[in-house]
Amino acid sequence: MTPSFRFLSRPILAALLLAGAALAAQDKDKPKFDGDIQKYWTDACSRCHGANGSGRDASGRQLPDAGFDFTDSRKANKKKDAEWLKSILDGKDKMPAYKGLLTEADASRMITEILRKFAARR
Ligand code: HEC
Repeated sequence: MTPSFRFLSRPILAALLLAGAALAAQDKDKPKFDGDIQKYWTDACSRCHGANGSGRDASGRQLPDAGFDFTDSRKANKKKDAEWLKSILDGKDKMPAYKGLLTEADASRMITEILRKFAARR
């Protein structure tokens, strides 16, 4: 390895590592959808939104990236399906976009079968 190449390799390596970390982080939030909507909630969404949609972990601690409490029916009922559909497909601030992983029909199922039921349950 020539000295000039060694000088270059460090930032390149750092960039590759960063890209790798970003990809890994993205994979964690964006698993492939296999048709099981409940499983997808658990695998893709619950890390930020909580298994029960409240934005809290099992011990009741607020999760850092929750954004919205789906069990708060008063707030949830003010939200339109179309608005949530757009958030799921296109993302919203820290919320990742799921276009390409979920179809519009999949995202609609997520809303009616998972998100709306969180509010109804409380
Ligand atoms: C990296 C964390 C993260 C993941 C993973 C995530 N979300 Fe979110 N989500 C957020 C945050 C943060 C917000 C709030 C965005 C805002 O309002 O600024 C949000 C907002 C939403 C909203 C809009 C709520 C509202 O009315 O304000 C919906 C719907 C939603 N998420 C559904 C999902 C679904 C379904 C999944 C899985 C397919 C998912 N989220 C995965 C962080 C996440």
